[in-house]
Amino acid sequence: MRVLITGASGGLGAAVVEQFLAEGCQVAGVARSWTECDERFQRISADLTSEEGSARAVAEAGPVDALVHVLGGFAGGEPVATASQLEWDRMLKLNLGAAFHSFRAVLPGMLERRRGRIIAVGSRAGVEPVAGLSAYGVSKAGLVHLVRTLALELKDTGVTANIVLPSIIDTAANRAAMPGADASKWVQPESIAKVVSWLASDGARDINGAVIPVYGEA
Ligand SMILES: NC(=O)c1ccc[n+]([C@@H]2O[C@H](COP(=O)([O-])OP(=O)(O)OC[C@H]3O[C@@H](n4cnc5c(N)ncnc54)[C@H](OP(=O)(O)O)[C@@H]3O)[C@@H](O)[C@H]2O)c1
Repeated sequence: MRVLITGASGGLGAAVVEQFLAEGCQVAGVARSWTECDERFQRISADLTSEEGSARAVAEAGPVDALVHVLGGFAGGEPVATASQLEWDRMLKLNLGAAFHSFRAVLPGMLERRRGRIIAVGSRAGVEPVAGLSAYGVSKAGLVHLVRTLALELKDTGVTANIVLPSIIDTAANRAAMPGADASKWVQPESIAKVVSWLASDGARDINGAVIPVYGEA
């Protein structure tokens, strides 16, 4: 199986890459930039918030059986009344726009081959609003809606689209940002990666349009 993983250098993305490599898959990973070399998988540098960047990344990766769209970013803290327009625009572009472009870039090939899996990473905040996280929450709610819409459109095509919703993930970045928090309740990146890889497996071929919470003990 050949898999394209966006956000592949991030806290969760790196674990998703490791999971697919451990299963013997061919992996192509996308991020805007890469600092280290790793011969085990193809590293693609592209900004996926543009249609052009997404199209180029998918062309570089070649035909893939699955797209795992991990890419996303977090911002928040201000209520709607005072939240910045800049942050609103950035969250929608990053968490929703990049998914739209990435899905559209892989879909023609998957539809032609009548085979493919699209697996997106959303967030619990996309189905459970959090005060102060309007832009992030709306962008992730939009992603859930986009994936569910896509799943309806993909009926009988051999291609499926599903989304997993992590709660707080136990990443180095979160540990550094929240030193006093109880990290034992956070979900492990490896645990989410296993759910994602199962969704890409043959055993999940009949699952389409699923919105799967992966909350750990939170
Ligand atoms: N961390 C959490 O607690 C948590 C909770 C719920 C949901 N999630 C979701 O889980 C996913 C992964 O989170 P994470 O914590 O692993 O994120 P992360 O560590 O910040 O990683 C983000 C990844 O996306 C890439 N990226 C960012 N902007 C990009 C762009 N414009 N074009 C291409 N690549 C880009 C980054 O690489 P470059 O910077 O080099 O581009 C990096 O590989 C996200 O969708 C996030 O919303 C995370």
